Amino acid sequence: MSKSKTLEGKIQLKLDQRKEKNSFRSLKNIPNLIDFCSNDYLGFSQSINVKPIGSSGATGSRLISGNSSKFEDLEIKIAKFHDSETALICNSGYDANLGLFSCIADKGDTIIYDQYIHASIRDGIRLSKARSFSFEHNNLYSLERKLKQATGSIIIAVESIYSMDGDCTPLLEIITLCEKYNAHIILDEAHATGVLGDNGEGLAQNLKVQNRLFARVHTYGKAMGCHGAVILGSETLRNYLINYSRSFIYSTALGTHSLKCIEAAYTKLTSAEEINRLHQNISDFKSLLSVKLKSRLLESISPIQCILIPGIDKAKSVEAGLQAKGLDCRAILHPTVEEGKERIRICIHSFNTTEEIKLCVDILEELIK
Ligand SMILES: Cc1ncc(COP(=O)(O)O)c(C=O)c1O
Repeated sequence: MSKSKTLEGKIQLKLDQRKEKNSFRSLKNIPNLIDFCSNDYLGFSQSINVKPIGSSGATGSRLISGNSSKFEDLEIKIAKFHDSETALICNSGYDANLGLFSCIADKGDTIIYDQYIHASIRDGIRLSKARSFSFEHNNLYSLERKLKQATGSIIIAVESIYSMDGDCTPLLEIITLCEKYNAHIILDEAHATGVLGDNGEGLAQNLKVQNRLFARVHTYGKAMGCHGAVILGSETLRNYLINYSRSFIYSTALGTHSLKCIEAAYTKLTSAEEINRLHQNISDFKSLLSVKLKSRLLESISPIQCILIPGIDKAKSVEAGLQAKGLDCRAILHPTVEEGKERIRICIHSFNTTEEIKLCVDILEELIK
């Protein structure tokens, strides 16, 4: 058999195609760089200190041996914090979205999603029997055109803050439009958790529209500095997920240590000085940029600040230049973003010092001529 016909040969060919396009991904571990790329926006991954307690693993899924009063008590606290009827903890944001979107709509129903929606929601939709359409990013006219074609129950998927652009969804306008069509909104608050709202409650509570949404997904691997996620919604939705969400049913539950970390992160949020510092740093970063760099900057009030550098080679060379000067910033390349929209993605944190932010801007100015 020729080499290109074997499985090993075929997957190697696909890797070679990535290498030809200079978009081959590999795992990197570059120690001692200044963090301008992690999602640890508030530095909680370093400051939450929970001693090992109880068992190391949950021993089973929540429906078998993995459930405990620790889960249920924490879910009640989380629901209260987020002003929701109920909360259901999931193993990760990916699991939460996969399970929720794959089971929430049936044949004859319609899921409409923003074109920049996260892969976990896309994968959930692929597993669903419902029809699905994307609408142009943050474009209400495009959304309305799709709403007019929808049948059955209508689900709309949007993110509070889009992970590769850092911009916000126009949530109030989307809610008003969806109410006209009796459509149900699911809001992914992954990058807004710990970031938006006085205590990091997220976009929906910041705008006081939490009761006009069908469900919210908060994740704990970003500003909360730990791991896991929660789905917020009605008692009926929670019962439905426990019965139909396959990623919830068929996976070992989080261990006690993870639950304690989530609880500790929420406790820290209620007095988080870090949230103010984060927003001050975001505003400092933006105001330090020259007019030239500002013209390449994507509109964002979030910790995710992107400077467009079209072309894979150019974006990669700016990434290498920043890393050579000790700054961990990452280039985001096609196919993660559209061809020609490659960029440097800078994640600002509460713990970045004024000097670090200034250094980052100075090096960017030097590299992007
Ligand atoms: C918008 C969004 N939703 C969901 C996820 C998945 O969350 P997790 O990392 O907890 O699986 C991410 C993480 O990249 C994300 O950016």
